[in-house]
Amino acid sequence: MSNAYDEAFKKSIDDPEGFWGEAAEDCHWYKKWDKVLDDSNKPFYRWFVGGEINTCYNALDYHVDNGIGDQVALIYDSPVTDTIKKYTYTELRDEVAKFAGVLAAQGAAKGDRVIIYMPMIPEAAIAMLACARIGAVHSVVFGGFAAKELATRINDAKPKVIVSASCGVEGKKVIPYKPLLDGAIEMAETKPEHCIVFQRPMETASMIAGRDIDWNDAMAKAEPHDCVPVAATDPLYILYTSGTTGQPKGVVRDNGGHVVALKWTMKAIYDIDQGDVFWAASDVGWVVGHSYIVYAPLFKGATTILFEGKPVGTPDAGVFWRIISEHKVKIQFTAPTAFRAIKREDPEGEFIRKYDLSNFKILFLAGERSDPDTIQWSEKNLGVPVIDHWWQTETGWAICANCMGLHHFPVRYGSPTKSVPGWNVQVVDPECRPVKAGDIGALVVKLPLPPGTLPTLWNNDDGYVKAYLEEFPGYYKTADAGYIDEEGYVYVMSRTDDIINVAGHRLSTGAMEEVLSDHPDVAECAVLGVEDKLKGQIPVGFMVLKAGVTKANDEIIKEVVQMVRERIGPVAAFKTATVVKRLPKTRSGKILRGTIQKIADNKDYKAPATIDDPATLGEMEEALSSIGYAKSRK
Ligand code: COA
Ligand code: AMP
Repeated sequence: MSNAYDEAFKKSIDDPEGFWGEAAEDCHWYKKWDKVLDDSNKPFYRWFVGGEINTCYNALDYHVDNGIGDQVALIYDSPVTDTIKKYTYTELRDEVAKFAGVLAAQGAAKGDRVIIYMPMIPEAAIAMLACARIGAVHSVVFGGFAAKELATRINDAKPKVIVSASCGVEGKKVIPYKPLLDGAIEMAETKPEHCIVFQRPMETASMIAGRDIDWNDAMAKAEPHDCVPVAATDPLYILYTSGTTGQPKGVVRDNGGHVVALKWTMKAIYDIDQGDVFWAASDVGWVVGHSYIVYAPLFKGATTILFEGKPVGTPDAGVFWRIISEHKVKIQFTAPTAFRAIKREDPEGEFIRKYDLSNFKILFLAGERSDPDTIQWSEKNLGVPVIDHWWQTETGWAICANCMGLHHFPVRYGSPTKSVPGWNVQVVDPECRPVKAGDIGALVVKLPLPPGTLPTLWNNDDGYVKAYLEEFPGYYKTADAGYIDEEGYVYVMSRTDDIINVAGHRLSTGAMEEVLSDHPDVAECAVLGVEDKLKGQIPVGFMVLKAGVTKANDEIIKEVVQMVRERIGPVAAFKTATVVKRLPKTRSGKILRGTIQKIADNKDYKAPATIDDPATLGEMEEALSSIGYAKSRK
């Protein structure tokens, strides 16, 4: 017998236009679309062509105009500054309209880019929504990135305005943001006309006359700005994410498909209705923060929580349960690493039992593979379903999930369950031939991708085709490998490129290798993601030094660690490196990364037939055990 999930899935694949056209009726349009899906320019597909919409109207004004203006839209809960602040839909709409006026007064208009480099404060969400209100394209840069990464994004997006804050508060540390911003602008080839800076009480930033504007001063003088209708296909935001080189990819999200798909997911995947409280414990700098702290809960008329803190240490491993209890959270969404951190500090779940969690219904996990231990610990201690779901910055919402608003399938550990309606996920071999159920291959999605996904990369259509569409014609390459079992459960095993996942943060080892190679004493290097009990993976660097280097190895290691911190940022968590005589390679000179990885993770391995010198593997074991990996951990 079929269930609501089966029916929705079938319709979404057999009749995508009917399926998404119906979902779009639930959104506010200034002008309805001429065509739900335009496939006249393959492989570029566009949704809701001819439609006019405003994302901010759908997130805020729509609810005020429909009588729920007094309902709480956003709760800012910041244990690190001892603050809880609530905004109703009317209050948030008014703040956003005023900040939209501030941006417009600085000359930002439809199509202009605005970079937002901010910590987890309500002003970050206000700035994003204000851009959407005037049709400007925001690009949020995560605070844990260094000035150089910010400069790369400034060069690519060419923003008219940058919005920032004087500092972030990371656990017990205050991190000044303004010197990083100033440094990035100095490095960048394109300079913004203005920076709007929110001064926080714990750190006052010095301002550059003529360029920098104080957020509060500007808001005091601002005229509220109304929503500007934009084409459904106009870009809403650019979000840079790690690619296979040091150059990040500018993932583009358009307006129409994004509103439609995200609003639909709130009920179908998360079982959220208007008025429910939804909490994505992530950061606005990541896609999870874009989609599920800011946009989707507001499209749905729910209450969203913006949390400035960590799962542990702010002040303790009970902070998640305090927030869930105090704000009556129905659904929480976070990365498994957050739960591993809590489990490490509170293995018996004693903090959990101190709070009334009766409103809490489901925990969703994503961002990295959910290890069965973490899921089982959470199920046992929370007594609610724990749902793993799989997605990427590029996709904007879940590719695979247990769609809790449609049908609750039995959980299979290690699987994010089934393809979400809209996603025709398949497994293929290198020649793009389908493989048998249970066989591992490349996880791909048959085109067209559903609405709300990436239509292209910013100013880089060729890069988009090359990175995602070329290898498997007719399909989107997820760059994840895995398999699908007989019953349609999908298993996501590993990346097929150089991306690693560190505490749910996506990083490129290739980008780190570029930094290490820049050290004057390094002849060649490799950076690998090695298993880590807390963060899932952490990067470890292996360096071969140039002949005749006299500097001590420890000194060089310290220097490269500092270089990665300065050029990529603390979020890379690059703290471990070692010097080796040579790297294991094939006879054609390719570094045997897979084999090194297995040695590091203490897994069984065989010397590949193509290896140049098998003795290098023993040398690698020694090097790894000297820094606490490989055999030493047995
Ligand atoms: N601004 C500035 N610096 C930041 C930052 C930010 N927004 N976010 C992180 N950093 C810094 C940290 O201070 C730390 O610096 P350090 O090397 O000086 O200590 C470094 O980047 C690494 O941070 P993080 O990976 O967060 O490690 P942590 O040890 O501080 O915390 C966890 C570990 C597991 C508690 C934490 O990563 C966490 O809560 N993860 C949740 C997962 C998540 O939000 N994923 C997003 C996708 S869903
Ligand atoms: P990001 O773009 O930062 O969201 O990272 C996307 C990548 O994280 C995916 O391509 C996967 O490799 C990994 N990932 C995210 N969610 C999951 C999940 N539920 N299971 C396995 N891997 C995941």
